Amino acid sequence: MSSSYVATIVKLFEKCRYKHDLYTVFSDWCQCAAISLSNAADLPKRDERESQYLEVVRRYDPATLKVFPEILGAVVKALEEKPTDILGQVFHALELHNTARGQFFTPYSICEMMAKINIGSGDDIAAVMKGRGYIRAQEPACGSGAMVIALAEAMKDAGHNYHQCLHVTAIDIDRRAVHMAYIQFALLHIPAVILEGNTLSLEFRDEWKTPAHVLDQWDAKFRLWDQIDRVKERCSSVSAPVSLPSVKTNDLPTQDYTIEKTGQIRLF
Ligand SMILES: C[S@@+](CC[C@H](N)C(=O)[O-])C[C@H]1O[C@@H](n2cnc3c(N)ncnc32)[C@H](O)[C@@H]1O
Repeated sequence: MSSSYVATIVKLFEKCRYKHDLYTVFSDWCQCAAISLSNAADLPKRDERESQYLEVVRRYDPATLKVFPEILGAVVKALEEKPTDILGQVFHALELHNTARGQFFTPYSICEMMAKINIGSGDDIAAVMKGRGYIRAQEPACGSGAMVIALAEAMKDAGHNYHQCLHVTAIDIDRRAVHMAYIQFALLHIPAVILEGNTLSLEFRDEWKTPAHVLDQWDAKFRLWDQIDRVKERCSSVSAPVSLPSVKTNDLPTQDYTIEKTGQIRLF
């Protein structure tokens, strides 16, 4: 089914190519769509991104600009019907991987197979999640995000709600890839931070937090767990369940917790 959406989206992009270079239109559409989604949630970045958005749309005629939301609508429908790497498929169908000097994304069926092998029945992942209730995944060269989407879907199929049980940190050196991954993770409500930068030199230029990351307060959750880890380290010799003082963070309500004899933490 996703192939019919790929054809629809390709046709919409083709409509724009008479007046504009296709590679540029694709990159600009990705930037505008990513900014539209980000600006609904990531408020500290809003003003800066809004002016970048206005700078991009100023370069287009009204007829082409009318196509932009139609493309986003088709992407939403495709992902609603079946989560997949729809933008990666469109990128290849438009032959932009050649323009980008051979930026190939892994076919989604391969990503699905790899994710299923890693997640299995879900029992192993459940063991890893014990304690914190979530796992963190890293994608150091995310492209359009196919590996992450497949991982999220494999978790869902194994009975784990990835909206709550998964947090992703993804990196790509290419701005357009960052935008593609961001659009798809945002629409699929995957909690993630996508860094634009170089994984090898650890130099980063920008940071994109998905609405799921912002709305579910993952920054606060990480701060809370950092504090708990520090307390746990100090209490490493406990031999019976102990109640510890509440942990307060700026953004989360007070959390009460105990450290079990096993060293496991229980939140209330
Ligand atoms: C072959 S694609 C794979 C993308 C994705 N992992 C997949 O399987 O579909 C490789 C990606 O790595 C990115 N990349 C290359 N060198 C990088 C670096 N030093 N740091 C971060 N990303 C890099 C490219 O921009 C490209 O999007």
